[in-house]
Amino acid sequence: PPLNSLLNLDEIEAAAKTQISKKCWAYYFSAADDLISKSYNNTVYRNMLLRPRVFVDVSLADTTTTLLGQYKVGTPLYVSPAAMARLAHPDGEAGIARGISRFGAMQIVSHNASMTPEQIVAEAKPGQIFGWQLYVQQDRTKSEAMLARIAKLNDKYKCIVLTLDAPVPSKREHDEKAALETQLLIEASRSEDEQKKAGKRPDSNSGVGQQLFFGTAADLTWSTTLPWLVKHTDLPIVLKGIQTHEDVYLAAQYARKHPGSIKAVILSNHGGRSLDTAPPAVHTLLEVRKYCPEVFDMIEIWVDGGIRRGTDVVKALCLGAKAVGVGRAALWGLGAGGWKGVDRAFEILQGEIQTCMRMIGAKDIAELGPRFINSRMVERD
Ligand code: FNR
Repeated sequence: PPLNSLLNLDEIEAAAKTQISKKCWAYYFSAADDLISKSYNNTVYRNMLLRPRVFVDVSLADTTTTLLGQYKVGTPLYVSPAAMARLAHPDGEAGIARGISRFGAMQIVSHNASMTPEQIVAEAKPGQIFGWQLYVQQDRTKSEAMLARIAKLNDKYKCIVLTLDAPVPSKREHDEKAALETQLLIEASRSEDEQKKAGKRPDSNSGVGQQLFFGTAADLTWSTTLPWLVKHTDLPIVLKGIQTHEDVYLAAQYARKHPGSIKAVILSNHGGRSLDTAPPAVHTLLEVRKYCPEVFDMIEIWVDGGIRRGTDVVKALCLGAKAVGVGRAALWGLGAGGWKGVDRAFEILQGEIQTCMRMIGAKDIAELGPRFINSRMVERD
């Protein structure tokens, strides 16, 4: 279907499904175990009600904001790091960059991207900003080499996003099944002779996601990993996959003691792909509001997971998020129509954000606050 006939992110996902391989669909769609966190990530927004104010001049709905304390962006909406965009479309991660460019959105590039960090930013617009996501490798020299490479691109890459919520691979059954099916198909389509010639076959039927974990370290700590990282990058650090107020507090304390280190945390359960029944970002935001609200002035709190509508984004912003990420939405856009599909997905979301801001009576991002959310929701823990 033509992209402009797709009216919401669900329709973009459905269109992508008809364009991409079964294996790619399984990899993007899948989440851990029973997909409880994945679905709750979105339900939590659906169950939260807004409190619109009227008689407010909302002719402007200005979505510009500042990230990392200094970079002006056109929207608080950003692209979360997600591996292997080229599975969906040859435009890949560079296509995501092109697709979001007219919205002035930030893009965080995955450690397991399917293009090089240089290729991805090669045609970025002036002022377009990126982050680079790190999975620390068991062989630290490999990570150090990548950090040095990103440092050379520091006119584009403005932060290092260290992902912490996936110390080991999770169980993603859609993925495992799809990989197994693909392997069986390949085998079935080869003659016996060819199979012999092909020699070593993949010895595992685990999904693409699990294979990417090869070499990732499981021994990261506050006291060893952060000093190492600070030593090897001059860029601000963003900790991704924080899921409790205790850990947000620790990050804020670290930031206070070590100026120029941690600038933001991302409340995230990895789109439900890591630990099933882990909390959605909204729950952690509410915990932070209750137990350590002072941290909002110490570090930026970004969130991701489950975003399907502009109202979801606005609700997260009202509860104190500084930026809101989408993982699958960008990938589905790419699958539905390459860079133009990403552009369409962002056009839809950005339009919905502005409509929501106007409907609740908010002129700009700074005005968004808990007064726009049903108070019973804000007070619960
Ligand atoms: C991810 N995510 C992810 N996160 C990360 O830090 N490094 C990575 O390489 C990946 N890879 C990845 C692949 C795919 C296919 C998906 C869907 C997700 C997690 C991602 O950054 C983000 O936390 C979630 O995608 C947010 O949830 P939604 O927007 O997909 O619901």
